[in-house]
Amino acid sequence: MKLRVIAGVVTLALPSLLFAADKGACPLPLAKQLKSVSAFAPIHKFVVNEPRCVNCHGGVNPHIDEPGPDPDAPDEVPSRVAHGPGAIDRFVVPDAQGRRTMEVTCNGCHDGMAPRGDGSNSRWFTAPPFLTFLDKDAPTLCKQFKRATGSAEHFVGHLVDDNGGNAFTKTAFAGNRGVEGLEPIPPSISHAALIRLGREWIDAMGGEFKGDESCGCEPQMRGKFTSLDSSSLDSVKVTGDLVWKLDPQSGAPPGGPMVFKPKSGSITVELKFNAPGIASRCEGLGSKTFNVESLSRSALRLMKLELEEDGRYRVMLVIPDNPDPFPTWMLDGKCVFPNIVAPAPMAVKYISMALGKQQGAVDPEKGIIGELNPPIRRGPRTITGHWSFE
Ligand code: HEC
Ligand code: HEC
Repeated sequence: MKLRVIAGVVTLALPSLLFAADKGACPLPLAKQLKSVSAFAPIHKFVVNEPRCVNCHGGVNPHIDEPGPDPDAPDEVPSRVAHGPGAIDRFVVPDAQGRRTMEVTCNGCHDGMAPRGDGSNSRWFTAPPFLTFLDKDAPTLCKQFKRATGSAEHFVGHLVDDNGGNAFTKTAFAGNRGVEGLEPIPPSISHAALIRLGREWIDAMGGEFKGDESCGCEPQMRGKFTSLDSSSLDSVKVTGDLVWKLDPQSGAPPGGPMVFKPKSGSITVELKFNAPGIASRCEGLGSKTFNVESLSRSALRLMKLELEEDGRYRVMLVIPDNPDPFPTWMLDGKCVFPNIVAPAPMAVKYISMALGKQQGAVDPEKGIIGELNPPIRRGPRTITGHWSFE
């Protein structure tokens, strides 16, 4: 910590950082999240590769002769497979709510669907572009499924019998593309096997969709840390409460560590100081909380958590020694002279975080938890700290 007095204002450059996480972002312990992510992987692999699913979710555009971009909708992902009998005219009418448009020319040929739950005829139409499966990686599709189905029950219901609606899934497993008399080409796994995969994913999440959209789709952790850098004259406490997410940019090589970076939450800096002079004594006290969103990217660029498959971790709790990423804030201060007490506001800037690079192993019960032991001593200063991720 550097303390300077410039033109009557004490400028204090201090190490600290603090965050407050959005609660409920993901209440699942990391082990469950990882289980959920790996339970979703075979679902992703199945739906994006299975023609009986993906052809209706973007793979086939029945309105053009050749697969590729749709001249009427150039922004959508180009289709991959030609429609068997060639292009079918677009003829659409609004549905009962006036929202979606329904294809009404399809059932003339696609007349061999499994019936709806109430025994009435199902209607054949492709999934809307926002529900395409094309070019979607597992986290993206996982979030889409959570968002579009809304609940675990509804999701599984969709796999079982489309919750009683148009029987897309049952028809897919019949393999006839919904066309009466067409030689069936059923999916690579059984309907029961897909339902089982769906249930295993839900079970891995504890039986229901939890937390925010990405919870159970991409690993995230709530990471907290506290660092206290003190001497007999001053102390700087930095507290962080951050949501760390798997960083896609760090694209871990297979077998390499998972890399997490802080994405939201807050960092709080708490400062105290007490500077005795010859005839006076100056004191300062204050704290400030910064949201991650409000900090410049470079302030947190070095913060990183790496997690190995065997449970070893390395965490970097460092804020670079450059005050620019941190906004200046004012600290209440006063100087006490024999006869008067004078206010002495101070402009304060965060400078660096003292915890540095730490490593350990994930505790199966408590997750990641560690502390600086022994504390770091630098001349008159002592740095203590602890961190936890769950
Ligand atoms: C006949 C076309 C058709 C087929 C075949 C089809 N779907 Fe769909 N699917 C749709 C439509 C349309 C919707 C959106 C309307 C709805 O939910 O009923 C949808 C919605 C979904 C949803 C919920 C929304 C989303 O994208 O997250 C899931 C999950 C889903 N389908 C999975 C599948 C799977 C798995 C298969 C293959 C076993 C499949 N679909 C086969 C047309 C189809
Ligand atoms: C003239 C008859 C006919 C009409 C009309 C028709 N289709 Fe098809 N469609 C077929 C046939 C036949 C297949 C199977 C092609 C194959 O797999 O060899 C097919 C396949 C599909 C597939 C791929 C399904 C899969 O599981 O691979 C989709 C998607 C599709 N049609 C959508 C539509 C939509 C949407 C409409 C209405 C706009 C429509 N079709 C109208 C005959 C038709």
